Amino acid sequence: MWGSIVSEWASLLLRWLHVVAAIGWIGSSFYFIHLDLSLKPNADLPDGVQGEAWQVHGGGFYRIMKYLVAPSQMPEELTWFKWEAYTTWLSGFALMVVVYYLEADLFLVDKSILDLTPAQAGLFSFSSLALAWLLYEVACRTGLAQRELGFAIGGYLFLVALTFAFTHVLSGRGAFNQIAAIIGTIMVANVFAVIIPNQKKIVAALIAGQAPDPKLGKTSKERSVHNNYLTLPVVVLMISNHYPLLYATRFNWIIVAIILALGPVIRHFFNERHAGRKSPWWVWGVAAAGTIAILFLSAAGPRDVKTGALSAQPTFANVEEIVTSRCSMCHAAEPVWAGVVTAPKGILLDGPESIHRNLRLIGRVAAWSNAMPPGNITEMTGEERAVLAAYIGEQAR
Ligand code: HEC
Repeated sequence: MWGSIVSEWASLLLRWLHVVAAIGWIGSSFYFIHLDLSLKPNADLPDGVQGEAWQVHGGGFYRIMKYLVAPSQMPEELTWFKWEAYTTWLSGFALMVVVYYLEADLFLVDKSILDLTPAQAGLFSFSSLALAWLLYEVACRTGLAQRELGFAIGGYLFLVALTFAFTHVLSGRGAFNQIAAIIGTIMVANVFAVIIPNQKKIVAALIAGQAPDPKLGKTSKERSVHNNYLTLPVVVLMISNHYPLLYATRFNWIIVAIILALGPVIRHFFNERHAGRKSPWWVWGVAAAGTIAILFLSAAGPRDVKTGALSAQPTFANVEEIVTSRCSMCHAAEPVWAGVVTAPKGILLDGPESIHRNLRLIGRVAAWSNAMPPGNITEMTGEERAVLAAYIGEQAR
């Protein structure tokens, strides 16, 4: 029992840290992108300054200047931005271990997709994470990233192909988390392995009284642009594990493909606007079309259900029987499933009254999607889902 309670609290504390660190990191990164785009040149500025910006915040005015590459002398004090990013990754990875690796049988594996042991799934997840990052890094270092449009399209197709593969190896929820973790890792590694080391080299050159290599600044900027466009998709993919209709429906990988395209398009709107150029309003048309497409795709139901295969309209007794045999071992006042000590999320499904009260929730997680049972661990059949869908759909009418 203690193991289960400790893991619940570890998950809360890590999630709290992860979200706060990510707000700090992404907040400052959005801020600097905005600042960079809004800098204006001015004849009175010191040598080596690209531009300046005036801002007002918290009751005071700020005048900010940006030196291209670096000032001629090392300033006495310098604020670095790196621990926000590192903490985001460290807490995120720890959270992934607690939720997805230590409970891989529930959240990473789905035996109806591929019959993996928890250890195999964990190993697959970790090694594909490392490999995908490595491929990205190699592509950047061999100069591929300099062809911006080609790299953007190639990178997009790479992520969609990975998503397709993951949804055929891991549970839908595990696959969504996996692609999000890969994108997040690429983003943090850009800070850790490129942006910060380059800044350190620039500082070292300044201290030695040499002019820093402008290439260092240029490569960092390139990675920072990648991060900028990856931010919106990674955030929605990270919270997608609370939305069964996204990750546990038939076309889940196409939904990710749309999200991966929509995020950068929406970001483009703000980048153009902050740069003082004409706002590309068409972006919202594309965003609306994409969102509507996701809505319809998510309504396609779970993978293995054949609708219209039922001979008669199901009764409540049919529903009760299915829920009792597939759900109540966990969702009961005293669960009998090993490792589950209290009814998950406080949801009881152990008698006619509680089942009736939770019909809508049951529909969302077990009829319109196959999020529950987690990893289909109690082997619910497509027919049973169709029975739930038919009964709950009729009730809603
Ligand atoms: C092996 C144990 C287990 C079985 C069997 C199981 N669940 Fe769950 N259920 C869980 C766990 C664990 C969670 C919490 C998931 C999380 O942390 O996101 C959960 C969460 C839920 C939620 C809340 C989802 C939310 O959005 O917060 C609902 C509703 C639910 N289950 C319904 C069902 C139904 C219906 C069935 C049967 C078809 C079922 N569960 C079978 C373990 C189980």
